[in-house]
Amino acid sequence: MSAVKKIAVLTSGGDSQGMNAAVRAVVRSALFRGIEVYGVQRGYQGLLNRDLREMDLRSVGDIIQRGGTILQTARCKEFVTPEGQQRGADVLREYGIDGLVVIGGDGSYQGANKLSKLGIKTMALPGTIDNDIPFTDFTIGFDTAVSIVVDAINKLRDTMTSHERSSVVEVMGRHCGDIALYAGLASGAEAILVPEVPFDIKEISLRMKDNFQKGKRHGIVVVAEGVGSGDEVARGITEYSGIEPRVTVLGHIQRGGAPTHNDRILASQLADYAVQRLMEGDSGKGIGLVKGEFVATDIEQVVSTKKSFNLDLYNLALRLAQ
Ligand code: ADP
Ligand code: F6P
Repeated sequence: MSAVKKIAVLTSGGDSQGMNAAVRAVVRSALFRGIEVYGVQRGYQGLLNRDLREMDLRSVGDIIQRGGTILQTARCKEFVTPEGQQRGADVLREYGIDGLVVIGGDGSYQGANKLSKLGIKTMALPGTIDNDIPFTDFTIGFDTAVSIVVDAINKLRDTMTSHERSSVVEVMGRHCGDIALYAGLASGAEAILVPEVPFDIKEISLRMKDNFQKGKRHGIVVVAEGVGSGDEVARGITEYSGIEPRVTVLGHIQRGGAPTHNDRILASQLADYAVQRLMEGDSGKGIGLVKGEFVATDIEQVVSTKKSFNLDLYNLALRLAQ
């Protein structure tokens, strides 16, 4: 006996690759279990605008391989207010909807938590490339974003080597350094600058100069945007070493394209588990996969906990970037 009869799903905040796979899995998992599903267009804004439509099996056909989100996303200031949240809960009740799956980042989690307190059973899925949501090893979209950065750095390495130049690559992640860390390690970057670890630009610059003098034919520095701009870092390197790095700001290219199989599988697993938890009557939870186990953590705890940084991986990257 399911605790929910009719649920809705929405995508919110910055989009990420794998959101479509998650939407597809919410719809198909719910329908498989005899639960009706509505899709909310444009996040919480769409909820307040009553922009909902019933979903069937075919409505999520041919999307697992697509980046972006067919439900689109939006930022909605009104939903940050108690009045907006109450209106959102009222709209869901008007449609007879008693459960909601929110796919987004920590801001979207806050919205899901407010609806849970207003009596709507909610589950939140970590849909962001930043990997800054705790209580899950990885967020949906992170693996794809890292693969995009690694591919870009591979291309840069070719031309840097031809000219024996250095390159500064600025990547996304908001205040989290994980995209820079994972892509930098996977690309063999000489330096990885992240908000979580202090660094000495003078030491890095002189080390790069020394590497070139020892015969290294390229120098790659990956900078997380939370540290600052690639241009600033390049200026510092030039000031201390005389080297003139070329700067590449990858920007929103990290947010598009086909999700990797890892993100498709993670999205499908988390979405299906969220539907199962809703059926069991649970609410106000952030869903994650930790060391191969599904976890459901109170959203209050998720949004009040800072994601831990993998210092072991960071130090490994340093050891190997000789
Ligand atoms: P992300 O989910 O990627 O962190 P945002 O921070 O922009 O993206 O949040 C997405 C949406 O979630 C916002 O536009 C707003 O509608 C809603 N939201 C954000 N913070 C809160 C909050 N504290 N309470 C209720 N809703 C919120
Ligand atoms: O949160 C995902 C993210 O891509 C961050 O890495 C980045 O700083 C931000 O969104 C960019 O926001 P917008 O897409 O609104 O410019």
